Amino acid sequence: MFELSSETKIAELDAENPAMIRVLKSTGMYSEGDDADRTIDNLCLDFGLNPMIILNMLARVQAERPPDIDISELEGMTLVQVVEHIESEHHAFLREILPVTVELVERVAGEYGAGDDRLIELQALFTKLADELENHMLHEEEALFPMCRDMEADDGTIKPTRCGDAVGGPIACMENDHIVAKQALASLRELTDNFTVPEAADEDYREMLERLSRVDQNTVVHIHKEDQLLFPRALDTQAALRNGS
Ligand SMILES: [Fe+2]
Ligand SMILES: [Fe+2]
Repeated sequence: MFELSSETKIAELDAENPAMIRVLKSTGMYSEGDDADRTIDNLCLDFGLNPMIILNMLARVQAERPPDIDISELEGMTLVQVVEHIESEHHAFLREILPVTVELVERVAGEYGAGDDRLIELQALFTKLADELENHMLHEEEALFPMCRDMEADDGTIKPTRCGDAVGGPIACMENDHIVAKQALASLRELTDNFTVPEAADEDYREMLERLSRVDQNTVVHIHKEDQLLFPRALDTQAALRNGS
C-alpha cells in the first residue's frame, strides 16, 4: 500500500496520483524529464527545503482526490481556448450570481436566523467565500491567464515569452485557493443539508438554496477543469518552452 514519506520516490508519486507531481512541478523543484528515481528528501536537499513542507502539500493533494467529472470536451482545445472557456462558462457565471446571492443570504439570515444558528453561520461562510472567489478570479485573470495567452500563438503553437518560466508561482497559489474553496463548499452543503428546502421556507429561502446549489455545482466543475486540465497544460507548455520545442 502506498505510504507517503520523505523516502518516497517521484516515480512512485506519479504512479499513485499524478496530481501530486503537478504540485511538485508548480513549486519549480521538478520538471518533466528530471530524474524520477530521486526521493522527496533528496530533492528538498537541493533546494534547502524542509521535506515536511512538501510532504504536507502532497498529503493535502492526496486527501483531495478529484471528483468524477467528464471534461473530455476540453481536451481538443488549445490552452487559450481553455482559458476563454473558463472565463465565459465559470468566471462570468460567478460574477453574475455571487452579488445577488450574497444579498439574498443576508436577507434570509435576517428573517430566519434568530431561530436557526446555522443560517447565521451560513451567511458568514458564504460572504467570505464570495469575496475569496472574486479575488481568486481576479488573480487568475491578471496573473495566470495573460501568461497562458503569452505562451501560445493564435494557431495553438507555443511561442517564446518572457513569462514562460513563471506560471508555477501563480498555479501554486491557485491550487491552494481551490483547496480552501472546496472546504467552504463542503461546509455549505453541510449547513444546508445538501440544499434541502425546509417546510416553512418562503420564496426567498427557496431561491437562496437554489442559487447556492448552482454556485456549488458550477464551482466544483470550474475547479476540476482548472486543476485537472488548465494548470497541467500551462505547466507542460512552460516545460516545452524551456526545452526549446
Ligand atoms: Fe477560475
Ligand atoms: Fe481557480
